[in-house]
Amino acid sequence: MSKETVILTGDRPTGRLHIGHYVGSLKRRVELQEAGDFKKMFVFIADAQALTDNIDNPEKVRQNVIEVALDYLAVGLDPSKITIFIQSQIPELCELSFYFMDLVTVSRLQRNPTVKTEIGMRGFESSIPVGFFTYPISQAADIAAFRATTVPAGEDQKPMLEQATEIVRRFNYIYGDTLVEPSILLPQNQVCCRLPGTDGKAKMSKSLGNCIYLAETAQEVKKKVMSMYTDPLHVHVEDPGHLEGNAVFTYLDAFCQPQHFEAFWPDYANLDEVKEHYQRGGLGDMKVKKFLNNILQAELEPIRQRRAEFEKDIPAVYEMLRKGCEEAREVAAKTLDDVRRAMKINYFDDAELIAEQSKRFAR
Ligand code: TRP
Repeated sequence: MSKETVILTGDRPTGRLHIGHYVGSLKRRVELQEAGDFKKMFVFIADAQALTDNIDNPEKVRQNVIEVALDYLAVGLDPSKITIFIQSQIPELCELSFYFMDLVTVSRLQRNPTVKTEIGMRGFESSIPVGFFTYPISQAADIAAFRATTVPAGEDQKPMLEQATEIVRRFNYIYGDTLVEPSILLPQNQVCCRLPGTDGKAKMSKSLGNCIYLAETAQEVKKKVMSMYTDPLHVHVEDPGHLEGNAVFTYLDAFCQPQHFEAFWPDYANLDEVKEHYQRGGLGDMKVKKFLNNILQAELEPIRQRRAEFEKDIPAVYEMLRKGCEEAREVAAKTLDDVRRAMKINYFDDAELIAEQSKRFAR
């Protein structure tokens, strides 16, 4: 990071954000924001991208735009330090995507592993919407329009960033140095890359109903923690317990900090001692779950409180977003001016062109 760094990242508004998003990316964004070591930082709500596979469900996307905005504010993203905006409100992104489409082949898109997996997940094999198929191009435009140098994102976004870099490189090669090559900023902590669902399944997903949302009440969080998946072989307290695939311990790896022992479980000095006792046998799931619940409540309570404050003034949240869109648009418009000039489609602001053509046609 430096004063040259431009950080940009976004989320699809297809649901409220959960604690997987929190440890995987939101927490890091707030740290980056607070460190302040950048020229600009953008966080945006990728509603146009969400529509690429929710085209018949615009209401869902609309509802979740405000949910995600509230989640952003609740975790401490601060519009006085960074720019928060909504993708669809920046028409320059469509324009840049359109030009980028000429720089990518169909077979290159077909090879994008993220798109491949997602096509399978959505049952799109026989009929892929073109907009969905080409969303890596639109995502490259999101990144390039803001001249982002640094894109904090999960492992799953690596192919997207590779494709964006290729597009930028090709653009600069053909039209001259205009855009900036981005790099991905992966999560530091391995357990934070992908938090499993409360049922122990690989990923938190709304359709599986295994998420703990940031906006959830204390009672709801407790209920979910207390019914979490642990170790099916750990039937009696005295049985040896297993840590692999045990969601409760994965969450502890992600959330537990040394000070939590003093505050909530002074019987143990650290997580290793708890793990050791659990594996040896004699430590019941309920005790571990209670500990996890205490930790999660401590982490989520300030988030809930901040959210409740922002919920009291929804018009102010929309106004914040409107201002963010305005700021973002200015930046994107400047890039698009440069893009049009580089691509020689700036007919009306080029005095030289007009002079040259006058000479050419003079008789
Ligand atoms: N594809 C990202 C996701 O599913 C969201 C996204 C859209 C994004 N445009 C982006 C992330 C640009 C980083 C940069 O989460």
